[in-house]
Amino acid sequence: MHRTHTCGELRAGNIGQEVTLSGWVQRGRDLGGMTFIDLRDRYGITQIAFNMEVNESLCLKARELGREFVIKVKGKVAERESKNKNMPTGDIEIIASTLEILNAAKTPPFTIEDKTDGGEEIRMKYRYLDLRRNKMRSNMELRHRLSIETRKFMDEQGFLEVETPYLIKSTPEGARDFVVPSRMNEGQFYALPQSPQTFKQLLMVSGFDKYYQIVRCFRDEDLRADRQPEFTQLDCEMAFVEQEDILNVFEALTRHLFRTVKGIELEQFPRMEYADAMRLYGSDKPDIRFGMQFVELNEVVKGQGFGVFDNAELVVGINVKGGNEFTRKQIDALTDFVKRPQIGATGLIYCRHNEDGTFKSSVDKFFAEDKLADWSSAFGSESGDLMLVLAGQTDKVRKQLNELRLHVADLQGLMNPNEFAPLWVVNFPLLEWDEETNRFHAMHHPFTSAKPEDLHLMETDPGKVRANAYDMVINGTELGGGSIRIHDKQQQKRMFDLLGFTEEEAKNQFGFLMDAFEFGAPPHGGIAFGFDRLSAIFGGQKDIRDFIAFPKNNAGRDMMIDSPSVIDKAQLDELGIRIIHD
Ligand code: AMO
Repeated sequence: MHRTHTCGELRAGNIGQEVTLSGWVQRGRDLGGMTFIDLRDRYGITQIAFNMEVNESLCLKARELGREFVIKVKGKVAERESKNKNMPTGDIEIIASTLEILNAAKTPPFTIEDKTDGGEEIRMKYRYLDLRRNKMRSNMELRHRLSIETRKFMDEQGFLEVETPYLIKSTPEGARDFVVPSRMNEGQFYALPQSPQTFKQLLMVSGFDKYYQIVRCFRDEDLRADRQPEFTQLDCEMAFVEQEDILNVFEALTRHLFRTVKGIELEQFPRMEYADAMRLYGSDKPDIRFGMQFVELNEVVKGQGFGVFDNAELVVGINVKGGNEFTRKQIDALTDFVKRPQIGATGLIYCRHNEDGTFKSSVDKFFAEDKLADWSSAFGSESGDLMLVLAGQTDKVRKQLNELRLHVADLQGLMNPNEFAPLWVVNFPLLEWDEETNRFHAMHHPFTSAKPEDLHLMETDPGKVRANAYDMVINGTELGGGSIRIHDKQQQKRMFDLLGFTEEEAKNQFGFLMDAFEFGAPPHGGIAFGFDRLSAIFGGQKDIRDFIAFPKNNAGRDMMIDSPSVIDKAQLDELGIRIIHD
């Protein structure tokens, strides 16, 4: 038998018992007559004591152990002389009677500690060692809990988990596809699913009126902290539902997860129109843990001879509570921040609301004290605040101010990872104009239905048509998104038309779905949550890689298995693929 207990299990109540433990050597300490080994497994750490006087050869053997050796120890549980209150097993130790080395280990390339000395790259290369660390292990445990609780909830609600294929045809979620060559069909390729979107809609036609799946999706897109090329969705679809039904079920799921996994009882989620989110936060995923809503100032500031304002489509700002504490240097740094090419503002205007009630702005030349008082009323500023203002083209200036708002909130420590502010953003536009290709794209995807009351705009002003589409946002992260679908073949055809698909292209890519719609498609809709993002939010962290056991780096590489990699000529020949090097 390799173990009677785990390394996290023994307590004072076990004192006197003969036990066997197996695990990895966390560290060893020699104190002359005694040698101590901290033995670690997934469950914790237990101290093993070897006494020179009692068993000299065993003690000497223990001294030879290196970090991360795998050992098996038999011994008696004893009360510790100096107890460690910081360890669950800190009241006891094992007085070893035998020691067996199950496997030696090379010295690991970084320390397996909470505060490791290993950099990002080396930890990715030796991911299996990184996963031994507490932080990574508890992230994986959190993810596991979330998936168990999700499955429980979905099952209780009558959802059926159905697996859909990975070797499919292109799905239109807006990223590039990863493709897989087919040996048996030379010159042809499968695409890996960007989501199971079309399959889940087909399942609705099949009459599986509540479907879900925790499923891998693949998207060839630029990577960021919250994006991986392969990631996991909690994907759902329901038939005979309206938007309200979907929002209710998935808000209930989210509440269930917060309650069971974090012990947090969430209030009802607020809902915000997309148009309001853009107007008040300059983002379709506003972080509402803190205020600083946008204040539009066109009425207040135009016509005073200041060209930057007079020539701008929109003058808009935020009031930073307590921001008057910012030094001139700090405000200059904010100006530099918004002027960075990634943000692209031409400058930043500020107005201090001094402690004595007076104002001091960067545009005093154009705005006298009484005019600045008008700014203050518009912002609702108080003594000690700082008003920050940007001007420019509406969409651009909103995006810039969104970045500034988040940056200031970060500087002021307003982004508490243990506070959770969920919301629904609803009524997204159906279409988005793409300057590059000079045509409309589906904002969510081409299967999303329009609001019936906006249908009349379809021919005259398609950009204004709102969709039955919604996102769940938590702490400024888009956690999930979905829509009520088109279930009528004619409407779907019309949508493909609007998106510039020829009849041929639409038939080629989605003929199977259009055909299915002729066999009794029920009204349906759904949503998908990013499961990695959900885990990261629950873990209070930003980087989803820390919640994926074997992630890719930002260049899309798996550093551990060194992939992607070239394949040999025979394999390429078999697939009928020739690589042409310039
Ligand atoms: P959408 O494209 O909005 O919708 O994706 C749903 C959710 O998946 C997560 N997500 C990602 N997570 C990590 N890495 C990525 N590269 C990545 N891309 C997306 C996000 C996002 O909110 N089929 C539709 C859903 C539907 O309409 O039912 C879909 O996939 O959290």
